[in-house]
Amino acid sequence: MDTLLLNPTNPQDLKTAAQLIRDGGLVAIPTETVYGLGANALDPVAVGGIFAAKGRPQDNPLIVHISDLDQIDALTADFTPIGRQLAEAFWPGPLTIILKKSGNIPQAVSAGLDTVGIRMPSHPAALALITQAGVPVAAPSANTSGRPSPTTAAHVLEDMQGKIAAVLEGGSCDIGLESTVVDATGQQAVILRPGAITPQMLAAVLGESKVGHHNAAPNAGEAPRAPGMKYRHYAPKAAVTLVCGSPQESYRYIAAHAQQTDGILAFSEYFGQFPPHYTIDFGKSYDKKAHGKILFDALRHFDTLTVGRIFIQCPREYGAGIATVNRLKKAAEGNIVPASARKIVGITGLSGSGKTHISRSIAKNHLLIDADAFYGDMLLHHGPMLAELEQAFPAAFSGGVLDKKQLSQLVFADKAQLERLNAITHPYIIAALEDFLQNHPQEDIYIDAPTLFESGFDRYCTCIIGVIASRKTCLRRIMERDKLGEEQAAARLDKQKDPSFFLEHCDKIIENE
Ligand code: TXA
Ligand code: MG
Repeated sequence: MDTLLLNPTNPQDLKTAAQLIRDGGLVAIPTETVYGLGANALDPVAVGGIFAAKGRPQDNPLIVHISDLDQIDALTADFTPIGRQLAEAFWPGPLTIILKKSGNIPQAVSAGLDTVGIRMPSHPAALALITQAGVPVAAPSANTSGRPSPTTAAHVLEDMQGKIAAVLEGGSCDIGLESTVVDATGQQAVILRPGAITPQMLAAVLGESKVGHHNAAPNAGEAPRAPGMKYRHYAPKAAVTLVCGSPQESYRYIAAHAQQTDGILAFSEYFGQFPPHYTIDFGKSYDKKAHGKILFDALRHFDTLTVGRIFIQCPREYGAGIATVNRLKKAAEGNIVPASARKIVGITGLSGSGKTHISRSIAKNHLLIDADAFYGDMLLHHGPMLAELEQAFPAAFSGGVLDKKQLSQLVFADKAQLERLNAITHPYIIAALEDFLQNHPQEDIYIDAPTLFESGFDRYCTCIIGVIASRKTCLRRIMERDKLGEEQAAARLDKQKDPSFFLEHCDKIIENE
């Protein structure tokens, strides 16, 4: 069979794809998570074709995709209140909701269970195809069983060329990891597979007490609630070593252990430190979205190289990072190295968010580095750094002594000068931090740093807490604390990162109104 490559924005191609589905054919479809291998969910023979093309075990049920909420009543015997709440909050989107199935669901789809997983994807091509086909579409990820899920049409063709009728070419998937699967048949929403809809997002809609976690690795003799979670998955040909800890610690470990012929999935901050031919850029260490988007493509890419082993820097396992680390642990098949034995917790956030107060209460009896004080001290005593500063900013010195106010004024309104200052000070500050960490090798350490990300301190952290508050509250606190007018306080806030940066890149968020 020739596999057609179709363009979903071309109405004729879309019509062809919809007809193929109605006729019992298999069509690979782009979604916001990964590409799916679609067939008419109400046609047992077509569904059987999916299992054959993937080499999928018969006891692993399929997700049924819909394009309109009206389709759901025909698919489930019990659309529970929790299921409804989740559908309203997250559809269309990367959430699969497990519900009691109706009599319309063929055995082949539910693999003998009395439940069915339902999802309304948000990718316009997927929605358009389901609508045009006029039937719900059963679709697992469009990979050969055991290989990483496909995130581009090219990946699909690697596995499915000649085995399926068509691929709808919809570019590379936004999220890159499969949907969150939630069992909503009971009183609680139980997470069976982590994805882009995080436990925190579910809790924000349902309340903390209504969100449960199912242990994906069940006890001996106990069947997993998502059958697919028991199979070997995502593992590339070469053995994977997953190195956990702060980005800096995992970097050190890999630099000390990797050979020339080993593949490395390295954060952008460290990418340049490794030989380029077998190293893949995983995105910035704090960029959880990038990790999800890059992971499967990287695992597939390693299979095209003849690498000895593969070392991977493990992202921090919080929020969207939970899903990435879940897939990574499977890829590593238990080969996980903890490169750090202690917590290093960074606390950052908006000026006026009350970050310092929060830091003190979180750190309690632990070592707490106040980065501002740390830096202030270096500006008084650090000879080599001061010598460089005097060369670069002679106007900020009088009689060989630094005038800190003068220095602040020189860089305050001048971006180029600020960058120059940072280029001089950051390496010294990082070196001083490293000294401090080495001198306290056993202790958990907390770091209160307004510019945690800018200074590179984030790379030393095993967890980063972001403290935010509304603009109004931040302004009020800055004005009171620093005796500033509203305009000056606003100017200071405007120079900072947007609150959304912290929401996306920190591991935990504290809202401190
Ligand atoms: O993002 C996704 O979910 C993609 C796209 C195409 O929608 N689909 C996907 O399907 O990842 P698949 O078949 O590769 O993974 C579905 C997972 C499997 O682990 C399966 O066992 C579980 O969901 N699952 C499906 N139906 C279930 C059910 N009724 N009860 C429990 N688990 C179910
Ligand atoms: Mg799959």
